[in-house]
Amino acid sequence: MKKRIPWLAGLLCGQVLAAPPQVVLNVAPSRPDRKLHGRFLHITDIHPDPHYANGTSQSSQCHREESDKDKKAGYYGTPFGICDSPWTLTNFTFEHLEDHWSSEIDFVIWTGDNARHDEDHEIPRPLDEIVALNRAVAKKMEDVFLRKGIPVVPSLGNNDVWQYFISSIWHSFIPSSSMSTFRQGAYYAVEVIPDALAAISLNTMYFYHNNKALTAVGGCLVGDTSDPGNLQFDWLEVQLEMFRARQMQVWVTGHVPPSDVHYFPECYYRYAELSLRYQDIILGSLFGHLNVDHFYFVEAADLNVSPKEDIMPSHSFEGTIFEELMTDFGALVKASGHLNYDDYAVVSVSPSLVPNPYLPSFRVFSYNISGLGSTTVGAVGEDEYLLMTKKDRASRWKHLPYRHGDDGNDGRQCMGAGYRDSWRCKLHPWRSDSHAPSRQNTLWTPLGYAQYYIPELDKKDEPKFKLEYLTFPISSLQLAEEPVPLRNLPKSLREAGVTESELAPYGLPDLTIPSWLDLACKLGKPREKKLRKRFKKYMYMGGEAI
Ligand SMILES: *[C@@H]1O[C@H](CO)[C@@H](O)[C@H](O)[C@H]1NC(C)=O
Ligand SMILES: *[C@@H]1O[C@H](CO)[C@@H](O)[C@H](O)[C@H]1NC(C)=O
Ligand SMILES: *[C@@H]1O[C@H](CO)[C@@H](O)[C@H](O)[C@H]1NC(C)=O
Repeated sequence: MKKRIPWLAGLLCGQVLAAPPQVVLNVAPSRPDRKLHGRFLHITDIHPDPHYANGTSQSSQCHREESDKDKKAGYYGTPFGICDSPWTLTNFTFEHLEDHWSSEIDFVIWTGDNARHDEDHEIPRPLDEIVALNRAVAKKMEDVFLRKGIPVVPSLGNNDVWQYFISSIWHSFIPSSSMSTFRQGAYYAVEVIPDALAAISLNTMYFYHNNKALTAVGGCLVGDTSDPGNLQFDWLEVQLEMFRARQMQVWVTGHVPPSDVHYFPECYYRYAELSLRYQDIILGSLFGHLNVDHFYFVEAADLNVSPKEDIMPSHSFEGTIFEELMTDFGALVKASGHLNYDDYAVVSVSPSLVPNPYLPSFRVFSYNISGLGSTTVGAVGEDEYLLMTKKDRASRWKHLPYRHGDDGNDGRQCMGAGYRDSWRCKLHPWRSDSHAPSRQNTLWTPLGYAQYYIPELDKKDEPKFKLEYLTFPISSLQLAEEPVPLRNLPKSLREAGVTESELAPYGLPDLTIPSWLDLACKLGKPREKKLRKRFKKYMYMGGEAI
């Protein structure tokens, strides 16, 4: 069923947008009487493997006995290895999430790759196996979360199936009003808290340049109006405009993280431009795929048409991800006297559940719901505090000056053949709001996350998820809001009077853009040896840097 929203026509008037505007309704099974918690789960890259067998050789992807000397496949998985997840690990994880988290969270972000890798030449991966694996993991998500009314927001990974299959497998996760766009392109939006908070699930396969050979993906070239990447960005722009008009906030989610390394350049420019132009409503970007815990920035400078770039393209870096980040953060330090927060958006890359190449893990984010009188999800939309906040934001928005415009790049350069047809020379004017939830701690602002992992996966007995680290200051853990449910904290952090712990290495007051930039600037200083060492340890879970 489609609701007509009268202002939509006016809003889009005069803009050339290829995708049909659409209205997002709530996921059918969502229960409005659910308690609101101010937390959500992010899980990614589960990679279950039905051929995994305990005791086999790692060199065979844990499928067969090959060599005595080789590392052996463990019963619950093989840590720091090259094997995918046995079903024992996947099942154990869902049982754990059910027992410890399903009554503590509001929604689930699940960013793809639900089949084993296709790297064993003796057992090629047939399509029906990918379909079956996706079905099996979707069933787990339904049983553990959806049945309790908790929305689950999946996105398509490069090891998943094409949308023809996925639309039947994910049927229960996709709002019925999004089904037609979803069938075409496997992207959609869900109002995880009706009228307040949405999650946008992108199909990054249309931006991912490794995907070139597989589909009719053209790389978002300007003027290619039928390119699926461009169509998706057109759609995204409509969604963002609509959510802004409704004073809603959104999480942007997907599998392959946006960067000029993984995306076609023109797709990356469009991504960067939209994430900066809508910085006032985007709370953050959540991705997976790399299996390495880290964060980085999409920067306005990425949209500069700079002559330097031709000499040294930014993706020529050949070090580890850690080294590359330290170089980037070091450059921020040099600019830190005059950082303009308008010019940054944050990308959070979560580590994987599959212990390849590190350890199984997942993250639980907490966000600001202080001030809301409502205690149930369904009542939030009518909450007085929410309505007042929306009104305030709308009136402030009207008075903000435009900060960037079409002249962001030097006019002369944009006449040049190389740039004339780049999205970098098609920038829209944008304005940013320093009071937005992505910029200062207020309603819906992400406050931090706690990351859990299984440090002793190869021990004989049943594995245990433990807190790996959290971003919060220790002092905030005791607050009535409980950013992390006390029962899911280790004793060492629950005790009164604790002021320091390796488990709370960053003490970030929140996850706003200024807080992330602050952390990046600290990490960017080579003399911050201890902090860097910790950051690196958490990135790679103590394993080898890639
Ligand atoms: C897994 O295989 C090992 C041999 O590598 C064996 O000792 C162990 O008993 C097996 N575990 C289970 C639960 O089958
Ligand atoms: C995992 O769970 C599925 C469905 O709940 C079940 O069919 C399967 O046997 C389980 N596998 C293992 C190894 O526990
Ligand atoms: C949430 O934001 C409000 C300001 O709107 C602030 O007063 C409150 O302390 C924040 N809550 C948390 C838990 O940080």
